[in-house]
Amino acid sequence: MRQPLHLLPRDVAPVPNVDLEAEADLARCGALKDYWYVACLSTELRPGKPLARTLFGTGLVLFRDAQGQPTALRDRCLHRNARLSRGAVFDGRIGCPYHGWVYDASGAVVEVPSLGPSQRSELLNAEACAREGLKPEPCALGRVSRFPAVEQDGLVFVYMGGDAPARAAPFRVPHWGQDGWTVYFMVTRFPNGVTNLVENFMDVPHTLFVHPGWFRKPARKRVPATVRRAEGSVLVTYKQAQDTLTGLGRLFNPRGLPLVHTDMFHVPNVTRVDYLWGEHGFVINSQCTPAGPTDSWVYTAISYRLPVDVPGALVGRALKPLVRWYTRQVIQQDVDIMDIQREALLDGPGGGVYSGTEADLHHADIEAYRRWLREGGQGSGPEAAERDMVFWI
Ligand code: FES
Ligand SMILES: [Fe+2]
Repeated sequence: MRQPLHLLPRDVAPVPNVDLEAEADLARCGALKDYWYVACLSTELRPGKPLARTLFGTGLVLFRDAQGQPTALRDRCLHRNARLSRGAVFDGRIGCPYHGWVYDASGAVVEVPSLGPSQRSELLNAEACAREGLKPEPCALGRVSRFPAVEQDGLVFVYMGGDAPARAAPFRVPHWGQDGWTVYFMVTRFPNGVTNLVENFMDVPHTLFVHPGWFRKPARKRVPATVRRAEGSVLVTYKQAQDTLTGLGRLFNPRGLPLVHTDMFHVPNVTRVDYLWGEHGFVINSQCTPAGPTDSWVYTAISYRLPVDVPGALVGRALKPLVRWYTRQVIQQDVDIMDIQREALLDGPGGGVYSGTEADLHHADIEAYRRWLREGGQGSGPEAAERDMVFWI
């Protein structure tokens, strides 16, 4: 049974659907921070090199410890607050670029060059030092905040939820390490907030306008779909008769098998789009990391498996640059439209109040989950629901 979206009564002041400022602020994002977020690709975190990243408006420095494990510390020296990420990594520790204080992977100060070989103040004026809160030796200086970091499926994740336990394990990259599947990553900085990004990645009608000819031909087709919301996921199953993709989509389907297209959102920041023809096809998995209110990093994993009649690994390898070029163009088109949306959203009061039709049913579900988390994520959240919708492309 189809249900139309409820329109707001005219006399109620509209409440913004998104609060990008709060979503990206560690102090105001509620339970949105209680998840693992991608901070970088494994390949970006090179031994001996610090890497600066901002998550939820908080600067972090990432580096590999002596065992090669990823480490994430607050990117601010305890001494005079210089950026540690501008310093050097050696023996799994990091040295500040300003006066050389050294921190180990737990964030503790372990060496202060100005203390000399004894690493202890001579304390000629112990009373004055105590009065000023000065410390006699490195270990008394304390530590910078450390954030748990793990590496999985080619990605480095950081947890910023403090003492609260993570609400879910780091998201697994689809088909990572599976026979016959190729996976590659694309890293993109998007000038918009996470809610708007995940909605964009789960949006079919925009493809005709933002990616004309890259995905689909405008055909005035009726697209029925089912939207299922349950346990923090929103699954859209498209039931369009004879759905086809143009562009590179053709490569995956020389035998004209029916296309199975599903879009999925997982709280709080992940989308997964599957285009499958039998046993082959491609999956686009996007994990969004908020840096600031309209500044996000998106880690896109593209997993694909070519049909057996596209001859072998050789062609697969030859196609790689073409597939990469194609996906980069498509992502850049989304970056541009997200910039256009951001510009108007921030243009005076009233931004962030969205209206919609049935084609936006799943967007309303995504917003409901993210709003619930931003408000603290108490209880079981939006209740499960399954509805049909129809739109035209
Ligand atoms: S500011 Fe870092 S050592 Fe002085
Ligand atoms: Fe798009």
